[in-house]
Amino acid sequence: MRQFLIAGNWKMHTTPADAATLGKAIAERQNALKPSSRVQTLICPPYISIHAALENVKGSGVLVGAQNCHFEPKGAFTGEIAPNMLKAIGCTHVIIGHSERRQYFSETNALLNKKVKAALHEGIVPIYCVGETLTERQQDQTLQVVRTQLIDGLLDVSLQSASQLVIAYEPVWAIGTGLSATAEQAQEVHAAIRSLLKELFPNAGADMFILYGGSLKPENADEILSKPDVNGGLIGGAALQADSFAAIVATAAKLSVS
Ligand code: 13P
Repeated sequence: MRQFLIAGNWKMHTTPADAATLGKAIAERQNALKPSSRVQTLICPPYISIHAALENVKGSGVLVGAQNCHFEPKGAFTGEIAPNMLKAIGCTHVIIGHSERRQYFSETNALLNKKVKAALHEGIVPIYCVGETLTERQQDQTLQVVRTQLIDGLLDVSLQSASQLVIAYEPVWAIGTGLSATAEQAQEVHAAIRSLLKELFPNAGADMFILYGGSLKPENADEILSKPDVNGGLIGGAALQADSFAAIVATAAKLSVS
């Protein structure tokens, strides 16, 4: 039996009112579908819309997470949010090291390592993102780039169980472009990530969730999620429509029992 995590990264979309509407629509579809406990569903709104989303998915089993956090528990860090604050509002997960944070906010593996540890310390599941640019892929550096992001970003991280940490493989060239990796390209990188995770975390690596992200949509979900080392998706554009998000959840639900 396979398990999946289907996560929506809402990026900088939705006011609290929009998040309430979208959260409600997602919860309604989730209630209608009633996927088994082998499929977890998560939405990650902007900070200020987290509360509205939480209020509107109550009772549906849909989890709510954040898109970023600081690594300190408190202090003079204007504009930042600490992991314990996310925990206090009800977040279960936090996305760390999305390529947009790496690219536009100069977040390095060393900084992301601190964030991963801070989230783990609070008992929030980090979704640690890795992925190569188009140039890196064209220069055949994909596996090396991803390996370095994992080794440096997860330095000195120790885990008691596989469920404490999620990895998302998001090829930068596939994000928001409509151009997804092929299922074979995704599987190749996911398998390499899996084998490194087994080295880094001998007690947990085999069972950790590795999500695929990059133009994942209802049309390609079945093919990509069918691959053995793909345990779900981190979805941008298609997560902003309740119907397309629910269609991907339904695909995972089908695969979880097949
Ligand atoms: P798209 O699904 O819009 O390509 O975005 C993927 C992503 O960046 C999710 O974090």
